[in-house]
Amino acid sequence: MENPIIEKTIAFAKATLENAEGGHDWFHVERVYKNALLIAKGEDVDTTIIALGALLHDIADSKFYQGDESVGPRMASEFLLRHNVDSAVIEHVLQIIKNISFKGGNKKQAFSSLELDVVQDADRLDALGAIGIARTFNYGGFKNRKIYDPSITPQLDMTPEEYKASTAPTINHFYEKLLLLKDRMNTKTGKRLAQKRHQYMVAFLDQFYAEWEGEV
Ligand code: ADP
Ligand code: NI
Repeated sequence: MENPIIEKTIAFAKATLENAEGGHDWFHVERVYKNALLIAKGEDVDTTIIALGALLHDIADSKFYQGDESVGPRMASEFLLRHNVDSAVIEHVLQIIKNISFKGGNKKQAFSSLELDVVQDADRLDALGAIGIARTFNYGGFKNRKIYDPSITPQLDMTPEEYKASTAPTINHFYEKLLLLKDRMNTKTGKRLAQKRHQYMVAFLDQFYAEWEGEV
């Protein structure tokens, strides 16, 4: 990569996420970055904005900062200002960071751009498939959640506040978020890849319930 600000942003994200939870660490960011550049190939977009948005989107996820949604955008903007990045670029990257998250899916998105569409699809892809399953159980373990409890049913119509406050078993997260994502993808590449990863999760859940009942 010949762009020095991208190199500096990679180093910044790696250092900042050194001790992050396994599903939201540098490797998550690297996968999102690579997927975003892949998806961007099929779209007429600004790849510098996409690279910076992907690399900084989880620099300080509110889940790990007592729900404070201002830390991530603040850290990203301080970093970009320190490196004299153009103010219009900074503004666009901050909008991506602020608007990328799912939050139960009922939150109205306050900003839209093709670049946000691409980074959001890349982040969503990493929530799906085998990696998505691994990340979800890692997060559930990190929060000491149950794997599954048949008596606690998934909640499909949560407000952003309820979604954030949920302590439900990890299997419920598949119904509350992961299985909904394939119909919310923005780009053609994102839709195609999401479909495949979705099928893999459905097969996983079938096998999970069969084993739960001791059928296999
Ligand atoms: P949000 O769902 O708020 O947009 P993220 O996009 O950061 O949050 O979520 C990333 C990943 O973290 C999810 O795809 C999932 O793997 C894991 N995760 C988040 N919330 C939960 C949860 N309640 N239970 C299990 N995993 C979760
Ligand atoms: Ni992410």
